[in-house]
Amino acid sequence: MHILGIETSCDETSAAVVKDGWKVLSNVTVSSLKEHARFGGIIPEIASRRQMECISAVVKEALKKAGVSFRQIGGIAVTQSPGLVGSLLVGLSYARALAFAVKKPLVEVDHIHAHIYANFLNKKKSEQPRLPAVGLVVSGGHTSLYKVTAGLKFRLLGTTRDDAAGEAFDKVARIMDLGYPGGPVIDRLAKTGANERVRFKGADLPGTYDFSFSGIKTAVLYHRRANPEQPAEHVAYAFQKSVVGTLIGKAVTACEKTGISTLLVGGGVAANSGLRTGLSAAAGEKNLAVFYPPMEFCLDNAAMIAGYGFHLLKKRRGACTH
Ligand code: KG4
Ligand code: ZN
Repeated sequence: MHILGIETSCDETSAAVVKDGWKVLSNVTVSSLKEHARFGGIIPEIASRRQMECISAVVKEALKKAGVSFRQIGGIAVTQSPGLVGSLLVGLSYARALAFAVKKPLVEVDHIHAHIYANFLNKKKSEQPRLPAVGLVVSGGHTSLYKVTAGLKFRLLGTTRDDAAGEAFDKVARIMDLGYPGGPVIDRLAKTGANERVRFKGADLPGTYDFSFSGIKTAVLYHRRANPEQPAEHVAYAFQKSVVGTLIGKAVTACEKTGISTLLVGGGVAANSGLRTGLSAAAGEKNLAVFYPPMEFCLDNAAMIAGYGFHLLKKRRGACTH
């Protein structure tokens, strides 16, 4: 069955056609990111206006690339939350109206669950991660840990109490005048910034799987003011080391405490080289299988919405296969 996915939760307008929940036939994404760069963050009004303008064209392009017509679609999946409300409304209203017009079932999808589901895309059933798994979503808007059990049931273990991990990267980059988005620049600088004399201590929130990244952002601000001559590389390294250490620590503890040996990572920060190296080392030590989606499915995309939506539609009909 072909599912048309639609995703408009942040700056992007994305549409995809995915077959049987895993095979991505098309994934078309248009982003207004460049228009927000000079403000140092996403301006919701600009994002939703651009989405209004291009959503029809993006959906048509996704169908064209996949070589399917509206009639051949088995259902429509759309991001329901979380996200910017104006942006979500563009996608939701469009999808609801389209489903009504072409008489197809509509399923509204949780965006964060879909980030974890991205690990199943473009993999045949035999190559897909086994459940149960621990899911770690790290992006510009979200930092969450889940237990994912058979039937794709998600139980939230912990989440951020303030800034998301990617948001902390973006804010620290702004403090250091490195541009937006900040994650890729800090990642690059950190590679040559090893210097154990600079250290930032993150909040541990012991006994919980929750995260807090706003304190470390403030610590970087004060450190920068007090040490303006210090190379940006050293600060980037110390900041990244602390954030990544917290993420790895909580994810590995979640695996150990639940007795689960599969870890599914998703979201834009999953691209971070420090996180990947650290998780690979932990995986080797603790015998964990760690999965990351390919980069295009780490970032916000409609393929993950369509793929996950397929299973939700099947569940609705009482026939989930996971
Ligand atoms: O998943 P995503 O596209 O959007 C949201 O759903 O939020 O993630 C974007 C976030 C931004 O905060 C960006 O700075 C961060 O992912 N990011 C990175 C890297 N590449 C992107 N953070 C750290 N290291 C990277 N290499
Ligand atoms: Zn996202």
